Amino acid sequence: MGLNIKLLEDSFELLAPQGDALVERFYDNLFNDYPVVRPLFENVEMQEQRSKLLAGLALVVANLRSPDQLVPALEEMGQRHVEYGAVEDYYPAVGATLLKSLAEIAGDAWNDELEQAWSDAYGEISKIMLAGVAAVTI
Ligand code: HEM
Repeated sequence: MGLNIKLLEDSFELLAPQGDALVERFYDNLFNDYPVVRPLFENVEMQEQRSKLLAGLALVVANLRSPDQLVPALEEMGQRHVEYGAVEDYYPAVGATLLKSLAEIAGDAWNDELEQAWSDAYGEISKIMLAGVAAVTI
């Protein structure tokens, strides 16, 4: 996928002890900055949702070196997201929120290289998820 896998792995490992804080910041930022997506989560139990997002991120990072497994899993996740109302337009909002929240939690450890690595990773992940959507709708 042409990503800086080592940097993604190392930085996620460093942030892992603050994983709960990360996903808490994530949804606070998302709902503040992009209130348009709030209705999608109206009937979602947010405590559970935060754990699912953290587990999802951990799964992606753990499988960056196994694209054979990661790609189909992401395509299926993209398909499930159609049912959640996650249209393509919302993906950049979620990406910006992820980067903002990672930077907040990483604090002084955050830098341009990390910003680039995570931005590239999110770009790839969302591309694959949306390709999974295209595969069933065409
Ligand atoms: C890299 C991108 C994303 C990742 C890793 C991710 C991860 C997850 C995970 C792991 C779940 C739990 C359910 C499942 O696995 O199907 C979930 C649910 C959900 N996601 Fe995402 N997601 C992403 C992008 C988005 C986007 C762009 C939106 C649009 C706002 C979104 C909205 C939702 C909603 C509304 C649910 C709740 C589903 C429900 O229980 O009703 N997600 N997400």
